Amino acid sequence: MTEPTPPTPGDDGDAQRIIFAITAALLVLVVTYKVGQSDAPVQAPVEVAADAAFSPPAESTIPAGPDGDAIRRGRLIFTASAAHAGQYVGNGLTCSNCHLDAGRKADASPMWAAWVSYPAYRAKNGRVNTMEDRIRDCFLYSMNAPASKAGAPPPYGDDIYRDLQSYFAWLATGAPSGKPLPGRGFIKLATTPIGHDPVRGAIVFAGQCASCHGANGQGQANPDGSYTIPPLWGARSYNWGAGMTGLASAAGFIKANMPYGEGNTLTDQQAWDVAAYVDSRERPRDPRQTGTVESARKQFHPKGDYYGQEIDGKMLGS
Ligand code: HEC
Ligand code: HEC
Repeated sequence: MTEPTPPTPGDDGDAQRIIFAITAALLVLVVTYKVGQSDAPVQAPVEVAADAAFSPPAESTIPAGPDGDAIRRGRLIFTASAAHAGQYVGNGLTCSNCHLDAGRKADASPMWAAWVSYPAYRAKNGRVNTMEDRIRDCFLYSMNAPASKAGAPPPYGDDIYRDLQSYFAWLATGAPSGKPLPGRGFIKLATTPIGHDPVRGAIVFAGQCASCHGANGQGQANPDGSYTIPPLWGARSYNWGAGMTGLASAAGFIKANMPYGEGNTLTDQQAWDVAAYVDSRERPRDPRQTGTVESARKQFHPKGDYYGQEIDGKMLGS
């Protein structure tokens, strides 16, 4: 990788990121073009749309006026979180590091699919969540808000939620509601006969990931503390409460989206193994832990991630 160019404040990328974005945009264009080439009869668009991912409106069509201003502010919070919601960000990530292409990309938990899916019950916190609740959780865990200046996610009712929701609602312009949209969340990978293994994953990591994320997984930092390539573990990454610590989520995200710009090139086995490697490294504490790691593991980590397990002689999460 070449030297990262220092980013302009308020901007959300440098030359490398722009190249990545263009690559991603071209892929989207190719996919869109193929969908557009479908020879299904014009009278039956519903059948076609049932499998094809919803396509959010083009960036250039964000309207002028107060609504457009809120949408643009929301987009900036999403793509340059530290610059536009910095008080509540406790790590080096932005929302769009995981929700790719500014929350537009199918199979990278796109925000148009999320928008039409709330309010909804979430087992994680045992109640019906509004969109505001759901965003708050990503601040708390994925953005490690406990380590931010404010020490917590934005308070309920904060303009940050208003602006983000304006952006999501706009992304979902024309999306059908009342049923899950194809492309929501991450793909679900079938388990493999030999299971997942961090030791095998380390080999995948060295060969397919380290060139960008660094041999130590710490990404590529800019002088101002922002990142050209985000960190995958350690103090500046997502914490032990985050959805990405779940192996199935991480494996599904990685399979469809990594190596960046080359999604769906790893085998399922490689995706599981490298997810196991990434998610068996140390990261910031689970904010839900009040007692011991063991008790937090029993209460909040029943589905077998690496939290509380011993790796290289150390118990993860402590
Ligand atoms: C470290 C990766 C990561 C970061 C950073 C991140 N998220 Fe998430 N987010 C996830 C994961 C994982 C899920 C669960 C995806 C799934 O449905 O399987 C999720 C889900 C969501 C959902 C619900 C999606 C749905 O379809 O139900 C919303 C809304 C959301 N995130 C918003 C945000 C916002 C806003 C930010 C920035 C403040 C953010 N996320 C930062 C990983 C991340
Ligand atoms: C070509 C460079 C490149 C390669 C190679 C690459 N990544 Fe990434 N990765 C990125 C970039 C850039 C992002 C953030 C995307 C964005 O903001 O649009 C990212 C984001 C991520 C994220 C979510 C954000 C975070 O910090 O947790 C994970 C997880 C991830 N990569 C894992 C992997 C794994 C595992 C591999 C190897 C299989 C890999 N990446 C290979 C560039 C790369």
